[in-house]
Amino acid sequence: MIAVLLCTTIAAILFRRHFLMALISCLLWSTFGFSTAVDSKPNILLFLADDLGIGDVGCYGNNTIRTPNIDRLAREGVKLTQHIAAASLCTPSRAAFLTGRYPIRSGMASNNRYRALQWNAGSGGLPANETTFARLLQQQGYSTGLIGKWHQGVNCESFNDHCHHPLNHGFDYFYGMPFTLINNCQENKPPEMDVALQDKLWLYSQIIALALLTLAAGRLTGLVYIRWKILACFTLVGCLFFISWYSSYGFVQRWNCILMRNHDITEQPMRLERTASLMLKEAVSFIKRNRHGPFLLFVSFLHVHTPLFTTAKFLGKSHHGLYGDNVEEMDWMVGKILDLLDKEGLKNHTFTYFASDHGGHLEAQDGSAQMGGWNGIYKGGKGMGGWEGGIRVPGIFRWPGVLPAGIVINEPTSLMDIFPTVVHLAGGRLPQDRVIDGRNLMPLLQGRTQKSEHKFLFHYCGSYLHAVRWHQKDSGAVWKAHYVTPVFHPAGAGACYGKRICPCFGEGVTHHDPPLLYDLSRDPSESQPLSADTEPLFDTVIEQIGRAIEEHRRTLTAVPQQLSSAQGTRGAGMSTSE
Ligand SMILES: *[C@@H]1O[C@H](CO)[C@@H](O)[C@H](O)[C@H]1NC(C)=O
Ligand SMILES: *[C@@H]1O[C@H](CO)[C@@H](O)[C@H](O)[C@H]1NC(C)=O
Ligand SMILES: *[C@@H]1O[C@H](CO)[C@@H](O)[C@H](O)[C@H]1NC(C)=O
Repeated sequence: MIAVLLCTTIAAILFRRHFLMALISCLLWSTFGFSTAVDSKPNILLFLADDLGIGDVGCYGNNTIRTPNIDRLAREGVKLTQHIAAASLCTPSRAAFLTGRYPIRSGMASNNRYRALQWNAGSGGLPANETTFARLLQQQGYSTGLIGKWHQGVNCESFNDHCHHPLNHGFDYFYGMPFTLINNCQENKPPEMDVALQDKLWLYSQIIALALLTLAAGRLTGLVYIRWKILACFTLVGCLFFISWYSSYGFVQRWNCILMRNHDITEQPMRLERTASLMLKEAVSFIKRNRHGPFLLFVSFLHVHTPLFTTAKFLGKSHHGLYGDNVEEMDWMVGKILDLLDKEGLKNHTFTYFASDHGGHLEAQDGSAQMGGWNGIYKGGKGMGGWEGGIRVPGIFRWPGVLPAGIVINEPTSLMDIFPTVVHLAGGRLPQDRVIDGRNLMPLLQGRTQKSEHKFLFHYCGSYLHAVRWHQKDSGAVWKAHYVTPVFHPAGAGACYGKRICPCFGEGVTHHDPPLLYDLSRDPSESQPLSADTEPLFDTVIEQIGRAIEEHRRTLTAVPQQLSSAQGTRGAGMSTSE
């Protein structure tokens, strides 16, 4: 209003007596200016599931699991069938999602066996000089909230500097787990973390206790002469081992399974039976608080990661055991939040997205029950660098009136594309001092272009390049060359059963020279590798991809490793032993 008055006064002075004209043009300007401001700054609502497979969702072809709310998003929006995660494990994939950059650029790709952050107490995490889309949207006047899982680290130097905390990465509000759900968070589930370390500490404690008893008995019966002081030393060392065994065991839950609101711990350890309803309640109240927008809400589900804690209402209801129950509960939460958008009249002003951080976890089993997701026709799963099942995830966008409804796009896209897309929608500018690997998806989603901007996508396993995809735009072929693949157990199983996940390097992988080549547009399941005999373009394709790798490597610079043992993750190592 003040702007209109001011403008009218200035214009009236400029145009002299044409006051009416000045008023009309200023009103037009203000209405027009206002409405473009609203349209160009939509609310952004991002749903990211944890470990959900592309084959677990109704609109991606699953006819027995019920995901009506995710399906509703697809019906009212655009569904991508070749939406690719930058890594097949939580920490690196989410780092790439948040920054629009391959995790190797931020030091969030591991060259050792610890491929995700292991512990709230480690010093690794998303470096403070990385810029998340939340930070850029915050600068554009957005209220930015994160509800749910973070898994990008907490502290650097001291136990509460919170240098990696979401509030230090552009979020105004955080409610959720700084870590991730793990089996250790639920009593009576087989622990996932620290099993190897615990076993070692327990073994040493027992050996020392046995030696101590033998020596003491020898001494008492006079068979052995040994000083009491030495016995006392043994006792002390034994006690230390015992205490560290106990603390690594007893405190995993206490230290990792916590909920925070902003900088404060609200539950330690968290009570899983309340978690889903708390997450939903927080998401709902964030939207209500910010209904006048613009807001960015990142709903980062703790579902459908093990231990799959599911509330009574959904327990035993799906056709797929506890895993299916958990998926259906998550879908219900999506529905509740979408309903709220409708009710608040925000649906047409909200750019909504649904995806999973990577593929389903095939090795997650409890006896004969499958506790991990299903990746449909795609080979492999979580933890594998190159195989499609680990990286091809659901990707759905809805923005009524701006994006077409019920459209399917088969072009290659990346989770890293969210970064430039939402920064563009918010009217922000991309950082100019670093490489951004994602591309703005709006032209593709709106149908203004038919082709994705991605030519090559690099598929890493930790910091090891395992495979490369080449989208040959003129022919429509999508070539994929695998240089390294994991060794499956049993052979041909498509997974590494008996381990927690497949390894990235060492004896658990096979190197291929020449690489295994597939054309995903003809063979999406990667079942028949091509050869120079069966594919006339074989040599040309391998050569092109080789050049792209060289070019890509030239853009990489050495950065501090966030997942190395020096970052304090090792002491609390996970039993993902490869
Ligand atoms: C649907 O999902 C369940 C749970 O992951 C899976 O076991 C089943 O095979 C899937 N069905 C189809 C048709 O993909
Ligand atoms: C929202 O957008 C859709 C699609 O353009 C339109 O049909 C509907 O009327 C709009 N709803 C409101 C409340 O403006
Ligand atoms: C962040 O800091 C590290 C260490 O100083 C440096 O190597 C890296 O290039 C920086 N990253 C960015 C994006 O500036």
